[in-house]
Amino acid sequence: MPARWRRRALIVLIAGLASVGIDAATAAETPVARGSYLVNTILACGNCHSPRDNAGAAIADRAFSGGLTISTPAFTATAPNITQDRDTGIGDWTDAEIKRALLEGTRPDHGELAGAPLAAAMPTGFYKALLPADLDAIVAYLRTVKPIKNRVPPPIYTAPVRRQPYPEAEAGFANADFTNPVRRGAYLVTIGHCMECHSTWSAGRSDFVNGLGHGGRPFGPTLVHGLGADWHGVVAPNITGASAAGLGTWSDAEIDNAIRHGIARDGHRLLQPMAFVFYAGLRDGDVADIIAYLRTLR
Ligand code: HEC
Ligand code: HEC
Repeated sequence: MPARWRRRALIVLIAGLASVGIDAATAAETPVARGSYLVNTILACGNCHSPRDNAGAAIADRAFSGGLTISTPAFTATAPNITQDRDTGIGDWTDAEIKRALLEGTRPDHGELAGAPLAAAMPTGFYKALLPADLDAIVAYLRTVKPIKNRVPPPIYTAPVRRQPYPEAEAGFANADFTNPVRRGAYLVTIGHCMECHSTWSAGRSDFVNGLGHGGRPFGPTLVHGLGADWHGVVAPNITGASAAGLGTWSDAEIDNAIRHGIARDGHRLLQPMAFVFYAGLRDGDVADIIAYLRTLR
């Protein structure tokens, strides 16, 4: 991880430790700090939107300036520049336009691709669950991202956008849910779109009903990083926490070690796209809630 990011992760971590309890931490946080925490940990926007070098490592000082190219039978799209640059980023988008892109997957009615829906690679169906205060915080933080000029190649669409609804996001969350650790965990797992990768996959679709968390989605030659490195054909494993086929026999510390440090129980270092580089900054309480939720999945 570049020094700048490590420093940022450290600051976020210290900010988290300084306050006692999760509620105290969020109550004391400014919207920009909350947005930075979300974007740079659980949401891992940079996992797609930041460029990497040939070894797959993030490039210091180029964060959010455009990244991964994703190719499927329906589209080839590069995660665009989401810095505040007015020509090549989202500097001239209004707050409402940014929120619409996140929640509905629609572009503004101006610019080169005016009104065109975003390819399903952008995890809009999950972001639909974002609580209004978190959405405000994300936008507030994105406004602080320094402008970088970089135009990504335009998307190519070969089929209409087909976005899969995610049941937990459709049902929605409310602040009142968050006295319950399992519900807080469900919220984090939803906005972190963990299950987009970790659910049963067939014919280009996830099964979020009968295969939630069962694993099986392959990441290989269809996904290409901006500068070459690929995801080595790795398959997302079963992460149901109440079944032996998944994480049922793992201790909480072992699950935490995979999520925050990228090390599986058998000791192997997890490959991308598992976003542990970002999850490393998650607060203890948030990881505990994520694990509590995973433990409810059979
Ligand atoms: C799994 C990869 C992925 C993740 C994670 C992701 N995005 Fe995206 N995003 C994309 C892709 C790919 C596109 C472009 C789709 C297209 O061109 O049709 C996109 C488009 C966008 C756009 C529209 C930009 C434009 O110029 O049209 C915005 C804004 C955006 N993403 C913000 C975010 C934010 C903020 C996050 C984190 C909360 C995020 N994205 C997480 C892949 C991702
Ligand atoms: C973009 C896809 C993707 C997302 C999003 C994702 N993961 Fe993963 N995850 C993977 C892949 C692929 C692996 C396997 C990597 C390897 O073995 O090299 C993995 C591995 C894991 C493991 C280790 C399990 C084992 O049996 O080795 C755990 C635990 C895990 N992920 C939990 C999560 C959680 C919790 C989230 C959300 C906060 C999440 N993942 C988000 C793709 C993803």
